[in-house]
Amino acid sequence: MPGFAQANELSAWASLQEHHQKLGKDIVLKDYFAQDPKRFEKFSFIFNNEADKSETLFDFSKNFITEETIGLLVKLAKEADLEKLRDDMFAGEKINFTEDRAVYHVALRNTSNSPMAVDGKSVVEGVNEVLDHMKEFAEQVRSGDWKGYTGKKMSTIINIGIGGSDLGPVMVTEALKPYGDRSLKLHFVSNIDGTHIAEALKESDPETTLFLVASKTFTTAETVTNANTAKAWFLEHAKDDSAIAKHFVALSTNESEVTKFGIDKKNMFGFSDWVGGRYSVWSAIGLSVALYIGFDNFHEFLAGAHAMDKHFKETPLEKNIPVLGGLLSVWYSDFFGAQTHLVSPFDQYLHRFPAYLQQLSMESNGKAITRSGDYVKYTTGAILFGEPATNAQHSFYQLLHQGTKLIPTDFIMAAKSHNPVENNKHQKMLASNFFAQAEALMVGKTPEQVKAEGAAPELVSHKTFLGNRPTTSILADKITPGTLGALIAYYEHLTFTEGAVWNINSFDQWGVELGKVLAKNILSELNDSSESTKHDASTSGLINAFKKKSSL
Ligand code: F6P
Repeated sequence: MPGFAQANELSAWASLQEHHQKLGKDIVLKDYFAQDPKRFEKFSFIFNNEADKSETLFDFSKNFITEETIGLLVKLAKEADLEKLRDDMFAGEKINFTEDRAVYHVALRNTSNSPMAVDGKSVVEGVNEVLDHMKEFAEQVRSGDWKGYTGKKMSTIINIGIGGSDLGPVMVTEALKPYGDRSLKLHFVSNIDGTHIAEALKESDPETTLFLVASKTFTTAETVTNANTAKAWFLEHAKDDSAIAKHFVALSTNESEVTKFGIDKKNMFGFSDWVGGRYSVWSAIGLSVALYIGFDNFHEFLAGAHAMDKHFKETPLEKNIPVLGGLLSVWYSDFFGAQTHLVSPFDQYLHRFPAYLQQLSMESNGKAITRSGDYVKYTTGAILFGEPATNAQHSFYQLLHQGTKLIPTDFIMAAKSHNPVENNKHQKMLASNFFAQAEALMVGKTPEQVKAEGAAPELVSHKTFLGNRPTTSILADKITPGTLGALIAYYEHLTFTEGAVWNINSFDQWGVELGKVLAKNILSELNDSSESTKHDASTSGLINAFKKKSSL
């Protein structure tokens, strides 16, 4: 348990409040740049990624910060004992104390095989054993040595899972499509809406379809129901239970439920309870990724995250890239009243990245109870949202530029495209927007400039941009498996930093439970013909209306 109850009781918090009051009214980002020619150098950092020998540039200079701000934020992190919590995580301590679990996804990508243990027992061998199994299986499926019940090669993979057992695999397979085996058709079925599984099955041939049932607990209603529907469909064609072994594998921690479902233990890829769902793409849950991009690329993906882990673990806080990202988020949430965090990748392959980050950030830090059990006296988890640009520019960026809200924004781009079509023309246009958006948000456009352009007087205020809106720009070399691994790990550690400062447990997710329990009860009412009266008038009214409409 940390030595403080509320973050706002820390002495650096008061100093930051004072600093904010002094700075708050006077911050004019463009003036900061005019006054300090070294501002970009001062506040931008290069991450050297050993995994793919790349460099990613993190530019924090267009944020509301001075050297004093960074000093105070770092002081806040130190007073909040961020370093201890981080070291405890890397030491396999049970920092997820509400579930009595270690938080050890970093051990899944320990590609340097350094000693890592939980409860005094090394986890390195177990992790490597599963990786070896994944490698062997991925190679068999990709080569065609793994054959279906009629002797054919697998050509369709259907991953059935939800939340962390879906979002990571979807996002990563999309992001790394250029490395994918295009002869494999991938489907990700997550929603309990029957449409999701039905559409995937419509496009699949039972003789050549491999199902990956991905569920840490193997009790998640959506996943178990979808998996049973898939099994019934498969058996309708295969007619023989023994064929299941060739077409169904499980990615789970729950051996007894897996065997009950009918999946052979040999076809189970396991992991441990110290892997949180939203941190599980690095585990057996990433099997669809390994199948699609090949094991060597999957390994590079792990190594990229490992490189970021090393940076997070070893770099002094004032130069620690994810720590700075997390502290900026605290700065905006708690001192500027920002409610949101926008992440916009300028990269079509990263189109599911914001959706992935939504779970990472909001399931981790959407909490209001401190680690000492009190209601927090400050704002926590921001609402993370995003869409890839340039599409997003043509929809909601209006609000960023001229709305009333402060929306701290991350822009992400890779210099080299996987598709340098038309002699790189598209990529240069994309990049021009990446730079222009951050610049426009910062410099804005004054009424004088608008007037000088000849705008009608009554339109001047409409065409004015106040500017002074903060952005972080992340510029990678290319979205390789190693770079993507590091980028995800950056956001994981940023989220960790926020949670440490807010003194909340970022690793449980009790908030998702109530709805699940109520849905279970309501389901039994939907199967019963009598009128619902048990709930508030609205809920009962809706249930009764549904029953009437669905029986028409
Ligand atoms: O309901 C939320 C959640 O528990 C997530 O944290 C998790 O990623 C998801 O459900 C799926 O859980 P499982 O992998 O156990 O099916």
